[in-house]
Amino acid sequence: MFKFLKRKKQAAFINEVDQENLPRHVGIIMDGNGRWAKSRGLPRSAGHRAGAATLKKITEFASDMGIRYITAYAFSTENWKRPKAEIDALMDLLLDYLKDKKLLEGNQVRLKFIGDRSVLTDEIKEQMEIAEEESAGRDKTILYLAINYGGQQEITKAVRTICQKAAAGQLDPGGVTEQTISENLYTEIPDVDLIIRPSGEFRLSNFLLWQSAYSEFWFSNINWPDFSEKDFTQAILDYQNRNRRFGGI
Ligand code: IPE
Ligand code: IPE
Ligand code: MG
Repeated sequence: MFKFLKRKKQAAFINEVDQENLPRHVGIIMDGNGRWAKSRGLPRSAGHRAGAATLKKITEFASDMGIRYITAYAFSTENWKRPKAEIDALMDLLLDYLKDKKLLEGNQVRLKFIGDRSVLTDEIKEQMEIAEEESAGRDKTILYLAINYGGQQEITKAVRTICQKAAAGQLDPGGVTEQTISENLYTEIPDVDLIIRPSGEFRLSNFLLWQSAYSEFWFSNINWPDFSEKDFTQAILDYQNRNRRFGGI
């Protein structure tokens, strides 16, 4: 009964948005897990665990709404600066998340990853591949998890690849365009239309630097573990009231 009421409420939220003007690609900077835990007297790892559950909930809801691409920032190239115990807890959580067979059960979400995997453990890399393979047939929504991701590192990597191709005579340096850079990034999807950052911070923190050239931003004070379907709907409604000009008039 409770489940039924919840579904009804979610359907009502989805009815509020204009299906003709949905952002194709939504980026989420999942921030505020630590502060959420601290305010409850819990360890930071409990905040990360709650944040992972929120990601599952919001992804399923966004997919039901018709959002095609979601990129969720889970671990930045700068997050290695954190204490080892917290990094270990985050990596354990990532493994649990990937191994959770119920993760994407019953929905149409395909899982992919962006970021430098090379430094992750073999077990994590293997579970990432399994998750990608097992969800490969789903095509309603693609969830990109950004792990060991940094926008500057991504652009640097693209430039390096382009230079190597030029040095090998496979590419004319004079012919390098924005398109060439885009094609050499991790993302193979349209640029991000809307970036959501909760927890009261107003910065990108190295997230999708190239792809955010014309993104709309939505900030809120809510910590990520508390982020609800209602908040997501509000972000979409606000986005739909924006006037995107892309430099035109
Ligand atoms: C975001 O929450 C999760 C990661 C960066 C991995 P934080 O851990 O940054 O939470 P706050 O910002 O300390 O509250
Ligand atoms: C950004 O959050 C990275 C992720 C959410 C994964 P941070 O908490 O690391 O960002 P800063 O340090 O406040 O900029
Ligand atoms: Mg933070």
